[in-house]
Amino acid sequence: MLHTNIGVNAAGHLTFAGVDTTELAARFGTPLYLLDEDRVRARAREYVQTMRECMPEGSVPLYAGKALSFAGIYRVVCSEGMNIDVVSQGEIATALAAGADPARMFFHGNNKTDAEIAYAIKNKVGHFIVDGFDELCAVDRAAAEAGVIQRVLLRLTPGIDPHTFKAVNTGMDCQFGVQMDGAMRFLSEALECEHLSVVGLHCHIGSQVFDAQPFLDAADIMLGFMQDALTMRGFIPELLDLGGGFGVRYTEADPHVDIPAEIRRIAAHVREGASKRGLFEPAIMLEPGRSIVADAGMTLYTVGQVKPGTLGAKSYVSVDGGMSDDPRFALYGARYTVYPASRMNGEKDFVCTVAGRCCESGDVVAENVALPSPRRGDLLAVAVTGAYNFSMASNYNRVCRPALVMLRGGEARVGVRRETPEDLISRDVIE
Ligand code: LLP
Repeated sequence: MLHTNIGVNAAGHLTFAGVDTTELAARFGTPLYLLDEDRVRARAREYVQTMRECMPEGSVPLYAGKALSFAGIYRVVCSEGMNIDVVSQGEIATALAAGADPARMFFHGNNKTDAEIAYAIKNKVGHFIVDGFDELCAVDRAAAEAGVIQRVLLRLTPGIDPHTFKAVNTGMDCQFGVQMDGAMRFLSEALECEHLSVVGLHCHIGSQVFDAQPFLDAADIMLGFMQDALTMRGFIPELLDLGGGFGVRYTEADPHVDIPAEIRRIAAHVREGASKRGLFEPAIMLEPGRSIVADAGMTLYTVGQVKPGTLGAKSYVSVDGGMSDDPRFALYGARYTVYPASRMNGEKDFVCTVAGRCCESGDVVAENVALPSPRRGDLLAVAVTGAYNFSMASNYNRVCRPALVMLRGGEARVGVRRETPEDLISRDVIE
């Protein structure tokens, strides 16, 4: 199996986190997001402990909530010792509702609005990651109005190509951060801001990155800048945030990333690079999202229409969800592994495209899927949907978003209830 939390039981049913998926579908309905809480905890712990062991004091991973944000997830990652990366008022409000400490929040985003900046300051969000010159002034002004000194990190764009897909490549030419040629001016202006305390530097190279080398290359550029910043401005950062991005295995063709080993490589590289340049070694932060939650997730769908291909056309199996709960195929051509959850031991003799239920031909879940001659009512499972599925879902076609069920120690509980048509209509003004 693709991951150790996926199995098959004696009834020939797919299990996830030790629980029979057909029982979960019967109890909670489909489409259904599952989240293996034990796996999330294990991943979070792996980051927290490894960083504690091999990096300077204060080094800590931030959970990038954009991968999966709902109140329950913040409880889980915070209790495992992660801090949080938030990108909007909505994410801050969700984390606060879950009881997260705002001091542990780092506010990201390339276009924080004035209202969001004021909201974050009012709610005592610990750090801002300032994305550009305009925002520098806006945060300084808001901090002045609130009568506080806001701790900030500056986001720089080191120009590293992480060899990932274009939509998630952020180390090169993109709308995020300040390019290295403007970095010294950015720092100088930030240091002039009376209501900001510049405590660190940040970069993020991209997402779904399988190798630590691009992180090491980015770290070199950041350390080079730190050396210049020390010489020219006497600036010594406490924190160096190298962003998120470790890749996960969606299909058998994807490599396995040994995250603790890669973290140790980064730690050794930064230590050596800092000492070579005579720099104070900053505490390090990483911002994993996908690698914390992706393989802790699975989506269950029920098969509806089955259309065997005739005259050389493809065969199609349509399910009761699709791009409304997971737009990643439509957006990035993302690949997934699909299991015939209710008939795992059947002979997989039917090759088909698994399509969604939305009214457009691009609504595809996966292509070239081999299933045991599918029938209406069969249960299909798509593995590794914990990241960027729930968080990117929509109500396209006025489809209600699925429930999310958390699994812990073999027990299931609802983390987010299923959306209802009443929820959808509740914001419509009917005159
Ligand atoms: N930090 C920053 C500043 C980011 O922009 C991101 C992701 C992360 C951390 C977390 O990266 P991760 O560890 O999850 O790779 N929707 C796309 C992924 C977009 C990633 C955006 N930024 C997808 O579904 O593949």
